Amino acid sequence: MGGRVNRRFGALVAWIDARFPMTKLIREHATEYYAAKNFNFWYGFGVLATVVLVLQIVTGIFLTMNYKPSAEEAFASVEYIMRDVDWGWLIRYLHSTGASAFFIVVYLHMFRGFMYGSYKRPRELVWLIGMFIYLCLMAEAFFGYLLPWGNMSYWGAQVIVSLFGAVPVVGEGIAEWIRGDFYISDITLNRFFAFHVIAVPLILVILVVVHIMALHEVGSGNPDGIEIKEHKDASGKPLDGVAFHPYHTSKDLVIIIVFFIIFSAVVFFAPDMGGYFLEHANFEPANPLQTPEHIAPVWYFTPFYAILRAVPDKLFGVVLMGAAVLLPVFMPWLDRCRVKSVRYRSWVYKTALTIFAVSFLALGYLGLQPATGLYTTFSRIFSVLYFGFFILMPFYTSLEKTKPVPIRVTK
Ligand code: HEM
Repeated sequence: MGGRVNRRFGALVAWIDARFPMTKLIREHATEYYAAKNFNFWYGFGVLATVVLVLQIVTGIFLTMNYKPSAEEAFASVEYIMRDVDWGWLIRYLHSTGASAFFIVVYLHMFRGFMYGSYKRPRELVWLIGMFIYLCLMAEAFFGYLLPWGNMSYWGAQVIVSLFGAVPVVGEGIAEWIRGDFYISDITLNRFFAFHVIAVPLILVILVVVHIMALHEVGSGNPDGIEIKEHKDASGKPLDGVAFHPYHTSKDLVIIIVFFIIFSAVVFFAPDMGGYFLEHANFEPANPLQTPEHIAPVWYFTPFYAILRAVPDKLFGVVLMGAAVLLPVFMPWLDRCRVKSVRYRSWVYKTALTIFAVSFLALGYLGLQPATGLYTTFSRIFSVLYFGFFILMPFYTSLEKTKPVPIRVTK
């Protein structure tokens, strides 16, 4: 019986393989894709980002079944999902918590890159595609935030779209073109809905596939920052590599389970996270006649928002904010040090990276505070440190005294 089932299954696989490279793809990307055996937990955030992407798409589909993308009905339809739709509250909290989780995971994924030089040759393109993903993710979150049509949704979109108005001559025209109206209206909500549910997710999924294809072409890095392809056994397998499946997939599964334990704790016990994941002002419907007391974006945008507000001139603030988002794009060229991993780099880079991380977190905090007095002073100081990390990088990294890098992976 078992033999016959196996034979039938084998025949089915052969039938598919003759028409579609299924086994070939599984081999190339899983069972015969060799990745370093010394991955630490920092290498788990890519997989987590993929898991969260799937979670957002699945929960998003179910939300769309009951959400109404019209200024008249949007807020009430979200309340309806929360109160009347079976399991609607869970779907919505999974999606809203998922948005914050996405950014936490992606920021840690990017920070891994800063630590282990993942943006360096031969992975420059993997990094650039990653940055493109990050920009799309920001757009996705921005469009999605308008949809519940709460008061912060309304005023947040109002503030961000009006930033385009700072561009001389054509600025107002651009802002109007984005809104499709003279103010944020039903028309704006409709187009943001279209972008949020189909256009941007489609691009995101395509980009993630391309990101992983590019990674598998050059091979994954590792915390020692050495290339495992340079030391192979007689059969051509990297000596320091293990097959992605089952060795890394089994470790990834543990990471995914731990992630879901923490994630569920937030979803079930603190879905608004004290106003950080779901802002209090957004529990009131959009009101064009009444601005919320403090307009602040959700936490994942606040480092850049703090930079925007730290600059007195509106246009210059917008330019600096854009530059702050885009500067990591240039990491492969700004960093002149030959050594990839922070383990073998000098105290100079370690210090610079720490200052960068502290500045980013501090700006994130400051962006949530009112733009007054000391808060503004500190925002200016941390903005200078943030930019200093990137702009001075070609100088301090070319002078680095590094430690010897091992030939084979260590721990
Ligand atoms: C939806 C968002 C993203 C997904 C699903 C994703 C997925 C992945 C996966 C599965 C890996 C392999 C596992 C790992 O190394 O963690 C990876 C590697 C990588 N990702 Fe991402 N990624 C995303 C965003 C980004 C962003 C925003 C960047 C940086 C700008 C980035 C840069 C990289 C780099 C450089 C690697 C190669 C690391 C190495 O092997 O040394 N990714 N990504």
